[in-house]
Amino acid sequence: MSKQVILTGIRANNDLTIGNYFGAILPMIDMAKTRADEFQVNLFVPDLHSFTTPIKHDELQSGIWNNLRVFVAAGLPLDQPDIHIYRQSYVPAHSEMTWILDCFTGFGQMARMTQFKDKSMKLANSELQEKGAQLVKANPGDASLEIIDGAVSVGLFNYPVLMAADILLYGATFVPVGDDQTQHLEFTRDIAERLNNKFNQELFVIPQPVKEQHAFFGKDQGLRIMDLQDPTKKMSKSDETGKGVIFLSDTPEEAHKKVMSAATDSEANVRLDWEKQPGISNLLQIYGLLTRKTAEEAAAEWEGTTSYGDFKKAVADSVRSFLEQFQASLADVDDAKISQKLEVSEKTMNAQANETLLNVQRAVGLRA
Ligand code: TYM
Repeated sequence: MSKQVILTGIRANNDLTIGNYFGAILPMIDMAKTRADEFQVNLFVPDLHSFTTPIKHDELQSGIWNNLRVFVAAGLPLDQPDIHIYRQSYVPAHSEMTWILDCFTGFGQMARMTQFKDKSMKLANSELQEKGAQLVKANPGDASLEIIDGAVSVGLFNYPVLMAADILLYGATFVPVGDDQTQHLEFTRDIAERLNNKFNQELFVIPQPVKEQHAFFGKDQGLRIMDLQDPTKKMSKSDETGKGVIFLSDTPEEAHKKVMSAATDSEANVRLDWEKQPGISNLLQIYGLLTRKTAEEAAAEWEGTTSYGDFKKAVADSVRSFLEQFQASLADVDDAKISQKLEVSEKTMNAQANETLLNVQRAVGLRA
């Protein structure tokens, strides 16, 4: 592990969205293309994370393969020796490291994770709805445990610990993620520092603080692409209606329509103002990402525009041509090359992960 490591994981639940693409995949691939001689790049599918919420298990394999193909279609060079693609469950050290980290993680710290609170409340409520029972309004942690027992798993609860193991096993310093994962990254730094201090040795490399991550990846880091229909919530692949979500698998025409019917406001002014004009600001952000500009630069381009129709059409056109190009690349991906790369990468990843795990096993007394 001589080079610094850049690492990220994309779950294979449902189709991927442009949020996943711009929030995590693209910053990774930009680094892989331009700085593979300086850094090791790990882009993996966290398959063990997939069933922390209910999924269709018979679709998981095709979802995993779809992610791998998307990585390649987005431009990941497979011929570089320090670029790796792998499936989390093919490196068993992730599971053992998670167990060890679990035993040094406070129950309260996990219970405070925002994503756990949000997801568990949604799950508990959909279960209760099916039963026709009264819904939980606040944090389900406050409700009777019996209510949430059927819906919310222990896996969802300690999901961030597995994520910390994913990062720490390879000593990753840079981890491009969307804004929703920032808290988990902070937790990773926290548990790594805690164990290093407790055992008085550098068991783990501490990932860079979030501010440094943003500086490193520039405009692509810490993004939150919002839902087109409700721009106050994150664009999410688990959204049931899909109307406000642009999936990488949408037909270009379908995506064009979704942008044209995006919710805006009555200000009649194209401006970057997330408070007052979240819909327009979100479209400016998307337009900027597609034309390789910051949201501020995109806003400057549209300054003084009062007709939302023209602006929306420009955003919709750029989304459509992006999807046309991306889907053409996806159709050309060679599965045999992916299989070959997986085999080599998973072998290397096992060797690297086992080295970190052995140091930790020694520190906690499991090995002499
Ligand atoms: P996941 O699979 O839900 O999402 C993958 C990545 O996409 C980002 N993302 C977004 N970014 C901007 N705007 C959006 N609307 C949007 N929606 C999703 C997410 O922030 C994420 O970066 N826990 C992770 C997977 C994971 C991981 C890891 C990541 C597991 N182990 C280790 C980094 C390092 C997750 O559930 O992401």
